[in-house]
Amino acid sequence: MIQWFNHPKDELLRDLALPATGTPVSSVAAQNLSLAVALRGTGRVSPNPLVGAVLVDGSHRFIAAAAHEKVGEPHAEANILRELRDSGKLDALRGGRMYVTLEPCAHEGRTPACARSLAGLGLKEVIYGMTDPNPLVSGKGAGILAGAGVHAVNASTSPEYLSWSAACADLASVFLHNISTGRLFTGLKIASSLDGVVAFQGDRRVWITNERARAYGHWLRMVYDAVAVGAGTVLADHPRLNVRHPFIADPVMTRTPRRVVFDPDARALEYALGSKSMPLVTEEPEKTIWLVADRKWIEPAEARGIKVVVVPVRDLPEAGARSRAFIWDEVDGVLQGLGVRSLLLEGGPGVYSMALGNPDPRTRPQLNRLHLFQAPVILGGLSPAGAKALRWNSAASTQQMIRQDRVQLFQLDGDWGVEIPFRDPLS
Ligand SMILES: NC(=O)c1ccc[n+]([C@@H]2O[C@H](COP(=O)([O-])OP(=O)(O)OC[C@H]3O[C@@H](n4cnc5c(N)ncnc54)[C@H](OP(=O)(O)O)[C@@H]3O)[C@@H](O)[C@H]2O)c1
Repeated sequence: MIQWFNHPKDELLRDLALPATGTPVSSVAAQNLSLAVALRGTGRVSPNPLVGAVLVDGSHRFIAAAAHEKVGEPHAEANILRELRDSGKLDALRGGRMYVTLEPCAHEGRTPACARSLAGLGLKEVIYGMTDPNPLVSGKGAGILAGAGVHAVNASTSPEYLSWSAACADLASVFLHNISTGRLFTGLKIASSLDGVVAFQGDRRVWITNERARAYGHWLRMVYDAVAVGAGTVLADHPRLNVRHPFIADPVMTRTPRRVVFDPDARALEYALGSKSMPLVTEEPEKTIWLVADRKWIEPAEARGIKVVVVPVRDLPEAGARSRAFIWDEVDGVLQGLGVRSLLLEGGPGVYSMALGNPDPRTRPQLNRLHLFQAPVILGGLSPAGAKALRWNSAASTQQMIRQDRVQLFQLDGDWGVEIPFRDPLS
């Protein structure tokens, strides 16, 4: 069974252990390994996709596994070839079979074309999880392999590999979305109680979900290029928005993501600039991107090393108390211009309602994925006047809640995580 859909991905990476050379591995084990090994590139390959590859010999014994680990560095297949070349074992490819999560590339770029490097080495079969989404090269890598006598199998058209193929597409979902729409991939993370409480008003500090669920939130900060919060969260929580993962300590992976603040009136920015203890200003300020509506903030903030970007806002009379919001196409363009391809909306309730309960499509992000963490507790009754609950209250959310395929559900020490991919593009 493919592990991908019902396992927390940080555990897949933690538990990744390559079999000893020569150990027999089943086809499904090789498929699972290709996905897990690909996670080694988490947070470092953008704007490329994560890719993993596994090589077995003609008797299906393990030879090697590798990932595309960093943008600009070799692809997964090239890393396997290098390993074999360095150890003088290129012959091991003869009659062997490679599982690779994405069709081997056909274009010479920063690295030589993988399909060409693999062709002619005696491989019997290359099974690839999905075709290259770039229409200019899609199918060409498979063509090069087939031309060299290698049996090239597209997993998405082979019943026995369909589940793996779906997982491979999920692994590459940011890249697929970027290529097919030219837009930012946008995720929304929510931690809530069973009764939908997401925050308390006033000074009350309550963790709704448990430590393990919060650790998974830190994993998501590795996965996305940038994380975003609203002005209210900055003022209430003074968040650091960095990565503090309890069992993944690789300093490259635990890099601080770009940190984005939605703050049209600059009320949080004004406070932050006057404060000596606001982490978004005092810790790695160059990672912070503050979105405001008035250019007068650019100078004072940039003097502190923070990037300030002016984004036009739109009045939203139909939204009630909140009367205006950023035009989402502008947010998308600004962030992509700064090299951000994926954005995780972390909260709080104001950001959620802009994303889920906002009837104006021009100011509503097109969500690609919901990450929902829930604790089996009922909190509203503890503080009926002061709890902020999640509201999915408009035509937008009704559309978004159309039943989705490929929901991922996993346990987090008694809490649970649900990851829901929205159909792409969502209208
Ligand atoms: N349970 C969770 O998962 C979770 C996650 C994060 C935070 N929280 C909690 O949430 C509480 C804060 O709630 P909140 O509703 O005040 O916070 P918020 O969502 O962080 O901030 C709301 C404000 O951000 C700005 N904003 C948000 N989306 C915008 C958009 N699309 N365009 C323009 N401006 C936008 C607006 O600022 P203006 O009003 O200035 O226009 C809005 O009022 C805190 O207690 C925090 O602990 C909970």
